Formats: sequence, structure tokens, C-alpha cells
Amino acid sequence: AVELSLRPRYLSEYIGQSQVKDNLKVFIEAAKLRKEALDHVLLYGPPGLGKTTLSNIIANELGVNLRTTSGPAIERPGDLAALLTNLQEGDVLFIDEIHRLHRTVEEVLYPAMEDFALDIMIGKGPSARSVRLELPPFTLIGATTRAGLLSAPLRDRFGVVSRLEFYTVDELAYIVARASEILGVSVIGEASQEIAMRSRGTPRIANRLLKRVRDFAQVRGDGIVTHELARSALGLIQVDPLGLDSIDHKMLRAMITIYRGGPVGLDTIAATIGEEGQTIEDVYEPYLMQIGFLQRTPRGRMVTPLAYRHLGLPVPQENAASA
Ligand code: ADE
Repeated sequence: AVELSLRPRYLSEYIGQSQVKDNLKVFIEAAKLRKEALDHVLLYGPPGLGKTTLSNIIANELGVNLRTTSGPAIERPGDLAALLTNLQEGDVLFIDEIHRLHRTVEEVLYPAMEDFALDIMIGKGPSARSVRLELPPFTLIGATTRAGLLSAPLRDRFGVVSRLEFYTVDELAYIVARASEILGVSVIGEASQEIAMRSRGTPRIANRLLKRVRDFAQVRGDGIVTHELARSALGLIQVDPLGLDSIDHKMLRAMITIYRGGPVGLDTIAATIGEEGQTIEDVYEPYLMQIGFLQRTPRGRMVTPLAYRHLGLPVPQENAASA
């Protein structure tokens, strides 16, 4: 599938996150030299920055199998036991949204991570006892948008903890150029830079915007993505020059017009614009904070003067001091 092949398969093809990448390269090489399983890895950061891609790459670089699941998909301890007992030596188990693991499942995971052992209760009542099953050494890769929601004992069991950062415009422009070659579409002049600038620091968004712009090029143009075509296509799909979409606009405008720019609580914002608070917190806020449009204060969220200016609205007097 095209979607999968846009993803880099080896570290050498992976653009950006250079610190994380350089460190992982060392840890992977060391594990291979010692013929050991790589230590458990926790990847955290906003969605779309490459946590799943990196876990695929880690398994490829190690030359082992990758098993993929997610926190909410593992309902009972037995589900986790089934996954763990099917691993081969050195394999990678990837658990996405690991902050959503059930407590009972998490407790089975501790001895598995620490001692490669599975403690199983057999029987009921007075004759119940626990037996210990040995597991092959494996690597757990956990991914989360919220490292803060992990319990301390779980977080402490990861030997490598890496935070993924938003990508620079130049990195995203490279990613767009690479993807356009794979997709066989010509993106010329400043078009890849334009797409990159509107991708909110996120490769997943960059690739999605590239595909939509390609649609306009094929249907409304001659198939070539020029700077002009990219600009007009992105305008038509309501992605503004900074990458803000209609929901960002709705949220900022609601905060300004109804709540005088804040402070206003997350749940109030969510109810006002009809979005999930969780989605706003995980998907929308991180980038708005990164570009300095939103601040989190103990009393709630506040819109900054920068955001007023971007929306073409007058900055209210009481906010002007922090402009
Ligand atoms: N496609 C998506 N993310 C990428 C990355 N970090 N490097 C190269 N291609 C990508």
C-alpha cells in the first residue's frame, strides 16, 4: 500500500528527530553487538510525529519481528499473556496509546518487562497459586501522546525514554519532496516549502496535504504542483498559511468573542465548539502553544495577542501589555 511505503523503513531514510535518531542508532548497534534484546523504549509526543514509524524502523534495524497492539485493545491480562507468549527472542512488541492500559494488565506487564517472566494465577480459593512462566527476552516499545498519564512504575521500566518534537519547516519540506518522488508527482519551485509551512510541524499532515494538493493538480491543473497551485489548493481545503484549519479558527474565535480571550477551561471550550476535550488537548493545543497562540495558565487557556493579529482582530487593551 502507498500509505505504508511513504513511511521510511530504516533510520538512514528517516528525516528529522536527529537527537532521538542518533541515540537510537547507538542503542540498537550496542544491543546487536551483545546479541541482546534492545532495552524497552518509550516514545512520547504529539500525534503524527513518527512514533509508529520509528517502532517499525527499530524492529527492521534489529532484524526482528514486530507485533503491534494498543493499550485499549488489551482488555484482560490473558490478552497480554497471549501476545507475550507468542514472541520470539529479541522481538519488538509495540503498544500504542500505552497510557490507556488497564491497571490489571499493567501489573502483568511489570514482571514481563523486568524479568521476562509471566506470573499466572491458577486455581481459585485456598488452593490457588501462582506459577511463573519464562518469556523470551523482548523489547517493549510504548507510545503515548501523554507521558504524564503513565504510572511511575510503568515509566520507570523503560530504559530509553524519547520525546519526539515538532519538525522544522525545512525537515518537512524534505519529507514532502521524498514523498512526492514515491508518489510520482512533480512538486516544483517553492511548493514543497509551502506545504511544509502549513503542516503544523507534523509529517502525517504534510503527507496528507501533499495528496490533497496532488488531487487538485490532476483534476484542475496539468498534474504539476506549482507554488501557485499549492497555495490555492491549500486555501480551498481551508488550511491557512500557518497550517491552522477550521477547527483551530473556530476555537480561537470562540475563545475571543465569547470568553474575551480567556482564561477559559478546556471543558468549556470543548462544549462551546462541539469537539472532544481530549482531542483539543492532544491534537490542537500542542501546536497552538508551540507557535505562541495559546497559553495554559492555572485559571485556564488564554489566547495571546499573536493569535488576535493572525485572525485580523484588534488586540484588547488589557492584553496589550504582553504583546
Ligand atoms: N514520512 C513520514 N515521516 C517521515 C520522516 N520522519 N522521514 C521521512 N519520511 C517520513
